[in-house]
Amino acid sequence: MRRIAVINQKGGVGKTTITANLGHALALAGHRVTVIDLDPQGHLSTCLGIFRPPQHGMDEVLLNEVDIASVTMVTRESLMLVPAGNRLADVEQMHDGGAARARLLIDGLKDQFEGQDFLLMDCPPSSGLLVTNAIFAADEVLIPTSGDYLSLTGLANLMVTLKKFEPYREKPLEQWIELSRFINRRRLANEVKEKLLKHFPNRVLATPISEAAVMAECPGVGRTIFEYRRTSRSAKEFSALAEDLIEKRCM
Ligand SMILES: Nc1ncnc2c1ncn2[C@@H]1O[C@H](COP(=O)(O)OP(=O)(O)OP(=O)(O)O)[C@@H](O)[C@H]1O
Ligand SMILES: [Mg+2]
Repeated sequence: MRRIAVINQKGGVGKTTITANLGHALALAGHRVTVIDLDPQGHLSTCLGIFRPPQHGMDEVLLNEVDIASVTMVTRESLMLVPAGNRLADVEQMHDGGAARARLLIDGLKDQFEGQDFLLMDCPPSSGLLVTNAIFAADEVLIPTSGDYLSLTGLANLMVTLKKFEPYREKPLEQWIELSRFINRRRLANEVKEKLLKHFPNRVLATPISEAAVMAECPGVGRTIFEYRRTSRSAKEFSALAEDLIEKRCM
């Protein structure tokens, strides 16, 4: 099983969109996938069409040691979701027990998801306890990065943060950068791409996800791009991105 945390402390870069649509792409490619909402905003449920998500989810797992399996829902064939739950934000406020809680997540994931191929954890735009837990529970991180200047400085900071985890890990965290909301005709976006390739060789996944109106429309109808516009360029990009991740294919 590949456990992947989708992280970036910068907001609105496409973390949730990528978790939902890449998750579905992997499921459609024949893999068993679980997506986990670690963001109190709960947008992952919305993206998958659950407009009135259940009260309980990851909050109960992390606050009350409830089994992950008991709050896991089936949303599509081979695609399961663990929703955020109403009290997930409380985890961020806790001052102690951070490591113990990360253990709950790690053990929960190990025990409950034996048969799964991919586990994607959608993280909030912060660097608090929820993200820390996800990074400890993951073997890999996927970092959506938009093609603008501030993304680059943000990414540099994020890489410094990730380095701090290394001494506490059994094995190094594999890191993938994903160009998200990419506007190919924009010079700056291509400059950012070149800089990323220079600084992070063999880390930038091969297929960028373009900025596209259809992607922004998907959450409103609660469908993934494969249900909303199956033949769109965006759908093709997500299928290709799934292959990139499976094959660890970079630019
Ligand atoms: N490729 C895209 N093209 C157009 N719009 C997009 C694309 N990806 C995401 N969006 C839109 O941009 C907004 C932010 O995307 P999303 O919620 O996925 O980002 P996020 O990183 O999860 O945000 P947050 O940091 O708040 O969790 C949403 O309205 C989403 O529909
Ligand atoms: Mg999000």
